[in-house]
Amino acid sequence: MPIEIESPEQVGYANIRCNLTESSVSDMPLAALGLDLNALILAYTDHLGKPALRERIAADGENLSPQDVIVTPSAAAALFIVATSLLEKDNHLVVMHPNYATNIETPRAIGCQVDYLRLSFESGFQFDLDQLAALLRPETRLISLTTPHNPTGVTLTEKDLRAAAALAEAKGCYLLVDETYREMNFAGPTPLAASISPRCISVASMSKSYGLPGIRIGWIITRDPNLQETFLAAKEQIFICNSVVDEEIALHVLEQKENILPPILEKNRRNFEIVKTWMEAQKRLEWVEPTGGVVCFPRIKPAADLHVDAFYQILNNQYSTFVGPGHWFGMDRRYMRIGYGWPPAEELIEGLHHISLALEEAKEKRKSRN
Ligand SMILES: Cc1ncc(COP(=O)(O)O)c(C=O)c1O
Repeated sequence: MPIEIESPEQVGYANIRCNLTESSVSDMPLAALGLDLNALILAYTDHLGKPALRERIAADGENLSPQDVIVTPSAAAALFIVATSLLEKDNHLVVMHPNYATNIETPRAIGCQVDYLRLSFESGFQFDLDQLAALLRPETRLISLTTPHNPTGVTLTEKDLRAAAALAEAKGCYLLVDETYREMNFAGPTPLAASISPRCISVASMSKSYGLPGIRIGWIITRDPNLQETFLAAKEQIFICNSVVDEEIALHVLEQKENILPPILEKNRRNFEIVKTWMEAQKRLEWVEPTGGVVCFPRIKPAADLHVDAFYQILNNQYSTFVGPGHWFGMDRRYMRIGYGWPPAEELIEGLHHISLALEEAKEKRKSRN
């Protein structure tokens, strides 16, 4: 997939001056945690996940217990487990588009029938319950929603989530909610989906809100014990258990959540204001203002007459600045995902300035071609 080949890890961080491709907050150094891991025994561990960690994760939902939680090596792994456990060729899935790739590509690889709940710029990338209801069929097994959403940064309300859960209950299918950015909803986190109904499955991780993608810790929450058993069996086939080192770090961070999260959210908020101010001055760009997360998905106005490929070439090659082009998400390249939560403010400001310059120069290129 292009996002894999063209990701900053592959381009090489040393070759990037302004990195606006990331979809998380700044990565946390291990040293910042002051953890002594020397007493850890590097054994296989509880297959469901460290009990104290599951307790912490469950404590976020009103009616959840640690038994409802399986810790997985990342949200990507959790999504893989859910899709491969629930979907077969004859099943039907409705999934948001655009999306984080795993939400779409794993079901596609399984070969099940897929319908897209398309989020359009013209509709403010808004979730539409009627549109979802119209896509459901008797063989629909799974509805897959993401909030806050990647790459658009839009969010579902609690009302939306409850309505989608009620729809899944009425149709006898499951509702997967990818809540990986849940802590980063500007209006505050919505309830964990799994707490709303036994038909709901929550997936999230430590990667995005805590800046810990380098420990691979995520989770699945479901109140359905049969589903839980199936997910555990799937996890065991692939991973057996999690890394004890990763689990220890995740537990430590969640125990300190009240101290660790607020400054991260504050920085994210400040960086968001920088993007917002910049967007207001852009003649050639338009956006749907995000309501959560760490990314936004503006587009080059349809009326802006410029050479889109030249824009990316100039941005990458001349200014060493990178964004996530629309094709990473199966969208037109006039869209670009700007990750504002990860870079320091100075790098963000410089990167945004480079985008403005590259847009201007790509317009010149178009002129000189005519
Ligand atoms: C919506 C969403 N879900 C899940 C993931 C995977 O996160 P991880 O596997 O690092 O936990 C990502 C990563 O970009 C994402 O954007």
